[in-house]
This record gives sequence, C-alpha cells and structure tokens, in this order.
Amino acid sequence: MSKCKAPIENTSGIEHIGFIMDGNGRWAKKRGMPREYGHKFGAESFKKVMEYCGKIGIRAVTFYVFSTENWKRPQKEVDSIMDLLSGYLDECQRELRKYNIRFVFLGDKSVFPAQMRDKMIDIERASADNEYTVNLALNYGGRDEIVRSVNKLIAEGKKSVTEDDISGALYTKDSPELDLIVRTGGDMRISNFLLWQSAYAELYFTDVLWPDFGAADVDAAIEDFKKRKRRFGGV
Ligand code: FPP
Repeated sequence: MSKCKAPIENTSGIEHIGFIMDGNGRWAKKRGMPREYGHKFGAESFKKVMEYCGKIGIRAVTFYVFSTENWKRPQKEVDSIMDLLSGYLDECQRELRKYNIRFVFLGDKSVFPAQMRDKMIDIERASADNEYTVNLALNYGGRDEIVRSVNKLIAEGKKSVTEDDISGALYTKDSPELDLIVRTGGDMRISNFLLWQSAYAELYFTDVLWPDFGAADVDAAIEDFKKRKRRFGGV
C-alpha cells in the first residue's frame, strides 16, 4: 500500500473497500493445477490490489483471507494457505517501516500457532500509528464478530447495548464506514463477511477470478460505485 507519507488525493469517493477474494480454486483448475496453485497467485493479486488501493488514496481496505468456515477444507489446502500467510507475515515484519499502513487482523487469533499469533500482534503494534488501514480477516466470521462484540459489552457491565456500542466493539472499530464490497468469482453472496459493517455498503460482483483481478478491475468497480445513488434509507 502507500509508501508515500504525503497526502494522496482520493477521487474514488470510497473511504473503505472490502474484497471477497473468490475463484482461486477454479483459476487453478482451468490450468489443470491443484487448488494451492490458485492460492499462490491469489496472494500475488492481494498484494497488487492492496498497493493499488493505497496509491489511489483509499484509507481502509479489508480482505477476506480465511473464514471461520474455511477450516473445513482439505488439510493440504488449509496448510498451503497458512504457509502463504506465514510467509506474508514475515515479509510484513521485514518491510513494515517502508509503508504507511496500519495492519489489523480481524478474527480470533487464538487458534493460530503461537509463532503466527505473535507475529500478528507484533505487526499490529508496530504499525498502529500509520495512516492507511489494511484489515486482514483471518479466522473471521461476521456473525461471530457481532456475538463477540455483544459479549464483550456484557462483560464490561452493559445491560443493554446501542448500535454505537456494537460498532465500537467490532474488530473494525477504527476503520471508516464501509462503502463498497467487491466479490470476485461470480457468486453473489456475502458469505458472513462484514455483516454489521455492510448495512449500507454498495455491492459489486464480478465474474473475474481473484488471481486475474488487478488495478483495472478495481477501477471498474470504482466507476460502477460512482454511478450508484446512495440514500442510506432516505429518499
Ligand atoms: C477463495 O477462493 C479463496 C480463499 C478461501 C483463500 C484466499 C486466500 C488467498 C487469496 C491467499 C491470501 C494470502 C495472503 C498472503 C493474504 P476459492 O478457493 O474458494 O476458489 P473457488 O471458489 O474457485 O474454489
């Protein structure tokens, strides 16, 4: 994402964009390759899209990397995604100082091996004062996030909660309002991603498979977003 410390003019009208990165498996299958091959190229698309969103000044980007349901996949595939992730965390730690990005890991970290968990915590701490936010949803589920938030508020002594209380207890509490969700891979569903945050977000679905998705596709989603009339329940 943005290496630049100077302000970048954001003409997209988007403060916060979310990506459901779907289609890695089908992309690999089309090439007669195992699903893991698709995830490897998917990780490259992730880096390119993250860089590009920073370049055009979008303040927060959330990527759905691994859901609470994704553990049901074959062990070999889960292991390959964890390897990619672990490699990325190393890269992140090494290169953090070059970037103006605050990394936040959305989801329950406790299920990850201690080494990975410690890296996530270290990256979050070391990048906390940076300007642009990249949220990585890992072992994340939208319903789980809402339940956790309410339980956290109850544990703090609340007898009843307001919308602001819940918004302030979510993993995304420090991110701007979500403007747009982009889902690649042709399916038209939310799949337990940012359920609370997507209440007034625009949705954009494309058949492009995630490993093929790049800057031009981000631009196409933004152009489509600009045509939408957002009424937030008003007229
Ligand atoms: C969905 O495609 C993709 C995932 C569940 C994994 C996403 C992971 C990555 C893009 C790698 C991320 C790595 C880093 C370093 C952040 P799918 O497998 O469901 O595709 P399909 O619908 O074609 O089967």
